[in-house]
Amino acid sequence: MTQQTTQIVIIGAGPSGLALGAKLNKLGIDNIILEKQTKEYVLARIRAGILEQTTVDFLSDIDASDRLKEEGIPHHGVQLAYDNQLMQIGLGENTGGKVVTAYGQTEVTKDLCDIREKSGRSVIYQAEDVSLHDFDTDAPYVTYRTDGTNHQIYCQIIAGCDGFHGVSRASVPKAALNIFEKTYPFGWLGVLSDVPPVSAEVVYANTPRGFALCSMRSWSRSRYYIQCTPDDHIDNWSDDRFWDELRRRLPDALGEAMETGPSIEKSIAPIRSFISEPMRFGRLLLAGDAAHIVPPTGAKGLNLAFSDIFYLSEAVKAFFDKKDEAALDQYSQKALKRVWKAQRFSWYLTNLTHRFSDDPFDQRVKEAELDYIRHSVAGRQMIAENYVGMPF
Ligand code: APR
Ligand code: PHB
Repeated sequence: MTQQTTQIVIIGAGPSGLALGAKLNKLGIDNIILEKQTKEYVLARIRAGILEQTTVDFLSDIDASDRLKEEGIPHHGVQLAYDNQLMQIGLGENTGGKVVTAYGQTEVTKDLCDIREKSGRSVIYQAEDVSLHDFDTDAPYVTYRTDGTNHQIYCQIIAGCDGFHGVSRASVPKAALNIFEKTYPFGWLGVLSDVPPVSAEVVYANTPRGFALCSMRSWSRSRYYIQCTPDDHIDNWSDDRFWDELRRRLPDALGEAMETGPSIEKSIAPIRSFISEPMRFGRLLLAGDAAHIVPPTGAKGLNLAFSDIFYLSEAVKAFFDKKDEAALDQYSQKALKRVWKAQRFSWYLTNLTHRFSDDPFDQRVKEAELDYIRHSVAGRQMIAENYVGMPF
């Protein structure tokens, strides 16, 4: 058994864990990151790719934005499609000049891995049986195993950044968790393909055949999604069937302009809203997907991970500088306020753009809402303000 001491053990090397590690390095707070998977596995995950301005600023603050500034594509608007037409919601004009940036989560994670390597502090990959101990005392510790050797790390704080299925939230007694959850009766079938994107801005389409989304990773790589049943399987979806269905769900002009090609990734994701409160249990602080999941409509998941890390790093700085335990409690309160606002918007946009009710009343209300947005500055401002993201 090896023994080590650090100030903060970070569990998980996804965007949350790596961003926290980078921020702590800047603040001079010692930390160790433990990751269950290999680096290659972590870097192969394909997820959303729209960054809020606050996320771009945060990545810049932790020196992880050089490539993002070169390769990220600013989006000055977002498109809602319905009734065979497109409605543009200007982001800058409705928010005093704010935009979002298209840059894939895979690239963000790669940049964060690179700065971790440059910092000289490693990530311990393939850490098996990570276990959290005594986080209800002021002397927590974490144990894990690599290549058959057991290890123990003493610390002052444990940061649970290990995603929805991680060990951190699962280590908290059930009675201490307050869970809010909503599952939706559909999934998203996503395809990545090296074809030019059909639209320069993200398109969210509400159509009689179900929802469709057009996004991009670059000017030569597109990311598209269609609503499918939750029990559907990718084997049911040849590339040809996917392109045909997507085209039918887009306004004619877009469908005709859309280029198709072989898929380089195809997957089905369940859609859910989930929040576990609070985000602090003694010396364990949860962040990112370990504490909450939003439906991907609106692309808030990654952005919320960074706002959590912003609040968490402020809290631990106050904790180490002033021995201020109250700052740890404030972390949970501050982070959850922003999480609930993003949760509300993702839920709203999901309801507005998907069809999942047999009741024609529901669809008529959505159509009335879309028409309201088209003719109301206030309606467009609400969407734009939320889409670019609430300030930290
Ligand atoms: N021990 C160590 N690491 C673990 C464990 C464990 N028991 N369980 C999970 N992990 C690792 C996972 O392998 C993963 O690399 O924790 C990491 C969690 O990363 P993410 O799931 O990407 O979560 P997070 O970093 O919070 O990022 C949030 O990811 O899912 C999207 O929409 C979400 O964009 C958001 C972002
Ligand atoms: C994506 O680019 O993958 C994406 C964009 C917007 C969303 C969800 C996903 O709302």
